[in-house]
Parts: sequence; C-alpha cells; structure tokens
Amino acid sequence: MLARYVEIGLAVREAFRQPALREGFIARLKPHRRLIAGCVPAGIQAHGMLPERAPSHGLDEISDADLAQWLVDDGRLIYGEFTEQELDHYFEAVAPWLPLHGHFIDLGSGLGKVVLSAALALPGMRCTGVELLGYRNDMAQMRLAQMLAAGVAENPAAAARVAARVRLVHQDMFDANVSDASMVYIYSTCFAPMMDRLADKLARELPEGALVTTVTFPMAHPAFELVQQFAPPSVAWTSVYLYRRRSALDAGAPSAPSYLYEQDCAAWEYAVRAAFAAYDSSHGN
Ligand SMILES: C[S@@+](CC[C@H](N)C(=O)[O-])C[C@H]1O[C@@H](n2cnc3c(N)ncnc32)[C@H](O)[C@@H]1O
Repeated sequence: MLARYVEIGLAVREAFRQPALREGFIARLKPHRRLIAGCVPAGIQAHGMLPERAPSHGLDEISDADLAQWLVDDGRLIYGEFTEQELDHYFEAVAPWLPLHGHFIDLGSGLGKVVLSAALALPGMRCTGVELLGYRNDMAQMRLAQMLAAGVAENPAAAARVAARVRLVHQDMFDANVSDASMVYIYSTCFAPMMDRLADKLARELPEGALVTTVTFPMAHPAFELVQQFAPPSVAWTSVYLYRRRSALDAGAPSAPSYLYEQDCAAWEYAVRAAFAAYDSSHGN
C-alpha cells in the first residue's frame, strides 16, 4: 500500500514541479480539489515524506479513482484518535447524558478503537463504525475478530452478545444512515473542511434528542445545542464537545451549508499557479 502511495505521490509531485506537465496537474486535480486541504496536496510539499527520486509513471498513467484515493490517503483525513486513557475519560464524562439503550455511531471509525470500546463500555447499545478507507475498516474487522475470539475463550455467551451489537461498515459517512442514532461520535480534529457539511447532514437526519460528540472543532448549527464542552485537559489534549439535536421547532431555518475548503475552480487554480511560481522562485527557475 505504502509503495503504491509513494509511486502515485511521485507522479503527482513531478507534474507539480515540471512546467511542461503543469497544465496536466491542474486538469487532473481540479475535479478532486475538495479532497485537498488547501490547494496543493500536503504530501508533495517540502514537508511531505516522499523520497527524492524520479517517478516510474506519469500522472496520465494513474487512474482517476487511484488519484482520488491517493488524495484521501494523503493524510489530512487520517490523523488523530484518543489515547486509551482519554477514551476512558470520555466515556466517564458523557455517561450522565447517554441513554442505556440505543445506537452509538462512530463516523470515521478508523481502526475501530472507539466502536470496540463503546461495545464494552455501553452494554445496552448497538455500536456501529463507518469508515471510508477499506484497509482501515479491514483492520478494524480484524481487531473485532481478535477481541471476540478472546471473549469466546472467557465467556462464549457474553462474546456472542457483543458480536450481535457491533457493525463495522465500509462506507462514506455522508452516505451513512444515522436516522436512529442516539449518539454520534466524530473524532473531527482533521475534519475542519467537512464540519459544516457534517453538521448539515446530522441536522437533517438525526432524531430529536440525539447526542453528537465532536473533537477540536465545534459544530455551528442552530439545530444543535451545546450540552457540555470539556476543555483540555479534562478529557483529552483538545476540546471535546457534546451536543444535543434540538426539537424540530427549535432548529431554526436550515443554514446554507458552506464547505470551507471547497474552493471554486478559479480560486483553486489561481492558488495553484501561485504555488508553481513560489516553487520556481525558491528553486531558482
Ligand atoms: C481521525 S480518524 C478517527 C478514527 C476513530 N474514530 C478513532 O477515534 O479512533 C478519522 C477516520 O475517518 C476516516 N474518514 C475520513 N473521511 C471519511 C468519510 N468521508 N467517511 C468515512 N470515514 C472517513 C479516516 O479514514 C480515518 O480513519
């Protein structure tokens, strides 16, 4: 996987660096610009981790699907999770508000740590993880299988009850059904570009009274009231927010969703051309 990531990254970077390839860079990346935080992918910038060697493929040999996946994998969506201790603090902190029964959903469930912890900490709840990247969801499934195998050895009936309550779904969170959620958990430290869009989805789809946890970024939407803000370091190194979906009557007019990083084509292209110029001047071109 990493080798493939590096190969595609080298091709993208070459198209950025070589003046003769730059129109191709713009044409290929423009349709995917929503996946890029800023204008130029972090991985091909000076602080990126790609090795200094020539690519073995041109950008025109990379499929659109592979390019889009590369942009997702480029890091902006992956970073961050609670430590084991922070997760213990978190479940303790939100316990007074959590119902005994219901549905806990982690949007962007990664390797499954929160879903599996919730399945153990909240025995009355169904627990679902929704993860965009297949390899991460596969790893979460493996962890679930390991946890259940260990549980079966101890107490087969209890392990079967846990298994019946946990689902790990490979899906884009924007397509996930959250209509019966009691609590939606989002480790959103890296989701700044998506917060408004997420809040809009949750406002439209969550039932009244459902809880939402966000991390680092608040959710600015009239459909949600802030129940509690846990300032650092009470629960974690960063702020943790707990919201409740208001009743429909309190929700106010639906806000126009704004997508912070969904730049219009012209603004994005202008910024990319400025980045080309900055690269050239720093390399004496
Ligand atoms: C910061 S990690 C958090 C993982 C997990 N919630 C935890 O706290 O341990 C965010 C995860 O969200 C996933 N993700 C990003 N965009 C997504 C999307 N549109 N739909 C589903 N998952 C997404 C990333 O692949 C990553 O695994």
